[in-house]
Amino acid sequence: MVDLSTNYLGLKLKNPLVASASPLSKKVEQVKRMEEAGVAAVVMYSLFEEQIIHESLELDHYLARGTESFAEAITYLPDAGTYSLLPDRYVANVEKLKKSVGIPIIGSLNGVSKGGWTRYARLIQDAGADALELNLYYIPTDPAVSAKELEDTQTDLVADIKSSIKIPLAVKLSPFYTSFPHFAGRLVKAGVNGLVLFNRFYQPDFDIEELSVSHSLDLSSSSELRLPLRWTALLYSRLNVDFALTGGVHSARDILKAMMAGAKVSMMTSKLLYSGLDSISNILAELQSWLEEHEYVSIQQMQGSMSQKSVAEPSAFERANYMKVLSSFKDLP
Ligand SMILES: Cc1cc2nc3c(=O)[nH]c(=O)nc-3n(C[C@H](O)[C@H](O)[C@H](O)COP(=O)(O)O)c2cc1C
Repeated sequence: MVDLSTNYLGLKLKNPLVASASPLSKKVEQVKRMEEAGVAAVVMYSLFEEQIIHESLELDHYLARGTESFAEAITYLPDAGTYSLLPDRYVANVEKLKKSVGIPIIGSLNGVSKGGWTRYARLIQDAGADALELNLYYIPTDPAVSAKELEDTQTDLVADIKSSIKIPLAVKLSPFYTSFPHFAGRLVKAGVNGLVLFNRFYQPDFDIEELSVSHSLDLSSSSELRLPLRWTALLYSRLNVDFALTGGVHSARDILKAMMAGAKVSMMTSKLLYSGLDSISNILAELQSWLEEHEYVSIQQMQGSMSQKSVAEPSAFERANYMKVLSSFKDLP
């Protein structure tokens, strides 16, 4: 048997397949099933800054002014009963999952501003989480805010959270920074142990009959793998940090590509949501047999083997690739 084990955030994992943050981690039964099927670790669904602030604002409001309606002010938030769960319940769920399964559980906080809500990082740690993932999902819309200001704020937040916990910290990022490698390097200097590439942005659409903005969640396909693959390959060995690749991982081949680019783990959600949790064991079996056929002794042996530092043609990850791809187009028949 090929050794599939890998190290991520100081955790020794039995293989590189991790379930990324999604509603699949809301039920203990589902996490148990994922563990039985073979996932090496689970990132929990996120606890959002807005949920925490929402709860404390609501409490302040009731304490200060009785029980008149607070609803209008918070209509932009998702319904607490649908996607979100109250913060204390989240912390209790971390504890429950830790008691129920043996694989590492990574808590997830989702927010961008400094503030009292970040104390939940420590509460998640104290509930037993093995590591924390901070999702910096943010859409800058103010033309007055420069890239530097935004990056300073986010770096301060990361440093703040890092200094308040002892468990390892990973940061899940957007690909849309002016100089992504520079910003990633700042986060590494701030002490992060892992970078999770990338956040998937759900773009709003228009309903042209109703003149409204519509929202729908489309699951990913393997074609989305190329963006995180490129950046993992570019940054591998340039930054002293563990990379997790998320976005478009649907098969054993996708996991192999992620490993070759230099990721320590590859994360999956869409595939598990539409093919079911049984697909995990098939994917892991395929991974084993591919590695055996190709005479690898371990998965760690291939980590980074296709990174920019290792490939024969490093320019393939840069501007030269763009020109090559465009010129490869053949005229219509
Ligand atoms: C229904 C659903 C819920 C998700 N919830 C979260 C979340 O709470 N926090 C988070 O960081 N990512 C969340 N994600 C993003 C996934 O963790 C993952 O990064 C993204 O779906 C890309 O991976 P995939 O191509 O394997 O789906 C969610 C994705 C889906 C489809």
